[in-house]
Amino acid sequence: MRISVVGGGYVGLVTSVCLSELGHEVDLIEIDADKVASINSGQPTIYEKEMKGLLSVNIGFRLKATTDYDPISISDITFICVGTPAADDGHADLTMIASASRSIGKQLRDAEKYHVVAVKSTVPPGTTSGLVIPEVLNALGKGPDPDEIGFVMNPEFLREGRAINDFMHPDRIVLGCSDRRAGDFFEPVYDGIFAPKIRTNLTAAEMIKYASNAFLATKISFSNEIGNICKRLGVDVYEVMQGVGLDHRISPHFLNAGAGFGGSCFPKDVSALMQLARDAGEEPLLLRSVMEINELQPLRMVSILESKVGSLEGKKIAIIGLAFKDNTDDVRESRAIPVINELLKKGAEVRAYDPLANEPMRRIFPDIIYCKNPGDALQGADGCLVMTEWPQFGLLDHEFELMRSKVIVEGRRILKCRDREGICW
Ligand code: UGA
Repeated sequence: MRISVVGGGYVGLVTSVCLSELGHEVDLIEIDADKVASINSGQPTIYEKEMKGLLSVNIGFRLKATTDYDPISISDITFICVGTPAADDGHADLTMIASASRSIGKQLRDAEKYHVVAVKSTVPPGTTSGLVIPEVLNALGKGPDPDEIGFVMNPEFLREGRAINDFMHPDRIVLGCSDRRAGDFFEPVYDGIFAPKIRTNLTAAEMIKYASNAFLATKISFSNEIGNICKRLGVDVYEVMQGVGLDHRISPHFLNAGAGFGGSCFPKDVSALMQLARDAGEEPLLLRSVMEINELQPLRMVSILESKVGSLEGKKIAIIGLAFKDNTDDVRESRAIPVINELLKKGAEVRAYDPLANEPMRRIFPDIIYCKNPGDALQGADGCLVMTEWPQFGLLDHEFELMRSKVIVEGRRILKCRDREGICW
């Protein structure tokens, strides 16, 4: 199939590379000319395992990046993969969705064949039918005609750092369809991928995405609350959750207690769902608690640290791990951010290290000290907080001997050394 993808961010690039790998002809449309040049030269604009290899195999062959919207008019399908950042009030900001829809509609004026517009961005339930369809049709200058154009809402379930694998081996493919023809036309996009396909309407597909992320976030906050209780009772929450997760109705995944969830998805999507609930006249009691636990959780690390080293004024504190999780350089909503803020407020000197995320974090905290290796960060430190589950942190051992006082608080269950205190274990 001939496919256009609007938006060359995380989701758009992974989608484009994987669809071209599946054998489709893909045009990736991105307004940032620097990103386009980088992608066309085979240089990924995001850090993702396997991305460089797949990009270099497909770029210039089945995959092209461009700033031009023209390819849409000769495509079979156009994916919308633009960002939906959180607005100040917690609602999703849909400005980019609306403008992408208008650009697609304009291009489709010249189309001579049936076309499906597929929304992949995470959007609040009701967005495809209430915003995308009217904007596309308005720009197209036509009323709805199911013989000319169809709409699909096809959410992504990609984890950063594992996105290529998640795309190629999904648990399920969700297809919200404006009508049967749109779904039938769209489905062969995923030929070659074996996963159950769920057909539903546009709004239910949007809700499946929000509910999935909200449920995963709830599992994490639940584990954190149980962990906080376990710590008081002297019980190991990891043993408890292993026992709990073996119940097939629960599953063992996303039960790792720790410093809470970060990233560009869970905090934003849960907040957007809460706003949506309130707009609909429903107070989201459970989701409110999920977010409250997540905000308080990282601050517990600072309290534990203080209980061991006393006042933090003038103390050297090492932060090991800045990314919101391992295998990424992304620091968005990283739990290290509230921790660093709190440490600075209390007068500590922060020395930070991350294998990939030093530079991204420097943009948020330009004045803390960034170190090239964990040993430099730990040298002479009065305390250390481990914030990210990078597997290599499990090998840290003699580096801790460089500390002035060996107070190690672990926010992710990753260290092997003794003498460490877990946030909730
Ligand atoms: C998440 C979802 O897992 C994807 O399915 C979804 O497609 C994506 O959001 C999205 O909406 O685009 P991602 O944000 O990349 O993916 O990261 P996760 O691997 O889900 O981790 C999120 C946060 O939860 C991290 O800070 C991680 O440290 C934390 N976490 C995860 C825990 O604290 N405990 C766990 O057991 C698992």
